[in-house]
Amino acid sequence: MRPLMIAPSILAADFARLGEEVRAVEAAGADRIHVDVMDGHFVPNISIGPAVVRAIRPVARTALDIHLMIAPCDPYLDAFAAAGADLITVHVEAGPHLHRSLAAIRALGKKAGVAMNPATPVATIEHVLDLVDRVLIMSVDPGFGGQAFIPGALDKLRAARALLGARPIDLEIDGGVTTRNAAEAVRAGANVLVAGSAVFSAGDYKMAIDAIRQAAASARGEAA
Ligand code: DX5
Ligand code: ZN
Repeated sequence: MRPLMIAPSILAADFARLGEEVRAVEAAGADRIHVDVMDGHFVPNISIGPAVVRAIRPVARTALDIHLMIAPCDPYLDAFAAAGADLITVHVEAGPHLHRSLAAIRALGKKAGVAMNPATPVATIEHVLDLVDRVLIMSVDPGFGGQAFIPGALDKLRAARALLGARPIDLEIDGGVTTRNAAEAVRAGANVLVAGSAVFSAGDYKMAIDAIRQAAASARGEAA
């Protein structure tokens, strides 16, 4: 089993105090920081770019997972790598040359992830598995935090888990993850849980992260 990781999405953080927010979720037990990049074209919202990644890199002690919801993505891979990304995830739907994008991320010395929207079949990643360290299944249509988990994502997690077999690839679920569905997501095969609102809307970040971890760990038959 791949290690369980909880990755708070800073999309739901207070941007006016972003550095403090990153420190606070790390102190509360975050395993990595999930950074949602949106371009107002691939998704109907605009968020942040490489300058913000560069600003939080020295503040964060954990890895920065950059989730690119932008099209095209290839022209910006360099900038995110230079800004301090540890892992860069691109969407299957973002362009016609997925193999090229993933190879470019690896060539920059970064870990590569591939993401897919809820309506995209898992089979679309079948031919790029040699080029990825992470598969991200979206459980909402990307663009906004705080949306409801789409239950069909569980079937897709199971299909992805079967497809990945024993390969050293993490399986991530992103969108609407809460204490209530974390166990199901883990039983379906996810080992990386992204949580935006479930963490940042909570008064106590540690309680929120602990609750998600506890639900997920017990579904794995582990102590939290
Ligand atoms: C959606 C983003 C997600 C999202 C997670 O476009 O990719 O990372 O912000 O936030 P919650 O957990 O609030 O759905
Ligand atoms: Zn995301």
